[in-house]
Amino acid sequence: MSTPFAIVTGASSGIGLELAAICAQEGFDLLVAADRPEIRAAADRLRGLGANVTVVEADLSTINGVDRLWAATAGRPVDALLANAGHGLGRAFLDQDFSDVRHVIDTNVTGTVYLVQTVGRAMRSRGQGRILLTGSIAGFMPGTYQAVYNGTKAFVDSFSFALRAELKDTGVTVTCLMPGATETDFFERADMLDTKVGQGKKDDPADVARVGFDAMMRGDGEVVSGWQNKLQSAIANVTPAGILAEQHRRMAEPGSAKQASD
Ligand SMILES: NC(=O)c1ccc[n+]([C@@H]2O[C@H](COP(=O)([O-])OP(=O)(O)OC[C@H]3O[C@@H](n4cnc5c(N)ncnc54)[C@H](OP(=O)(O)O)[C@@H]3O)[C@@H](O)[C@H]2O)c1
Repeated sequence: MSTPFAIVTGASSGIGLELAAICAQEGFDLLVAADRPEIRAAADRLRGLGANVTVVEADLSTINGVDRLWAATAGRPVDALLANAGHGLGRAFLDQDFSDVRHVIDTNVTGTVYLVQTVGRAMRSRGQGRILLTGSIAGFMPGTYQAVYNGTKAFVDSFSFALRAELKDTGVTVTCLMPGATETDFFERADMLDTKVGQGKKDDPADVARVGFDAMMRGDGEVVSGWQNKLQSAIANVTPAGILAEQHRRMAEPGSAKQASD
């Protein structure tokens, strides 16, 4: 048996680094990618777990970045694609810089679907492969003060279920990992540290990654990590969107961390 090979995007920190660490521990060779040089230190940590690791530093919001990542496979068949790279953007939509807005959409949506199409075609030709997309329970609710981000995650969740149905009987499985608030760099990067959700208790990224990896290996369609998030998403499914939008305001409005502690 040859060593299985996995691509993990957004592997420099948070959920992606933990997903890559699990892949390494489970015997995968790795191709890891992120936009900033921190990915190199992450790769060293993964090598310490015994994996052969190739690194690509690329902005995966761009077609060129995704092409460079794909080129780095050098034709090696990909057994698992963990398309996890993504980021948020807090504050009021009309006050956001459009280039930041666009980067969220281009990373979470455009770059992700381009990568999934590129790798997915090769997997379908081989008649085998596993795809894990990091969606979010944010996809179930309108994201007041994270409006664009939640929209991108609604896209990822929906896309994942549809692609899974299209690939039924091809040997390629598609799994959507839908975490709730998780203790990573996400909230700092999204400029949400002054929000209630930014300061609140969060899930451990290692636990979230384990739930996602196991679901991918079983070939499950979806997994919401954590029982509280399962409950929250079940309630969201039967709650009017206007109410969800107001609930989200209380979690994500700038300054809501202070109001919560007053
Ligand atoms: N944390 C949460 O509460 C939460 C909840 C639900 C879903 N998620 C999702 O989980 C995934 C991982 O996020 P995280 O929470 O682990 O946050 P994180 O620690 O900030 O990790 C995000 C990863 O994505 C990479 N990335 C972002 N934009 C990129 C780009 N344009 N090109 C290449 N790499 C890029 C980052 O690398 P660079 O720093 O190099 O850009 C980093 O490796 C995201 O898709 C996020 O939407 C997070």
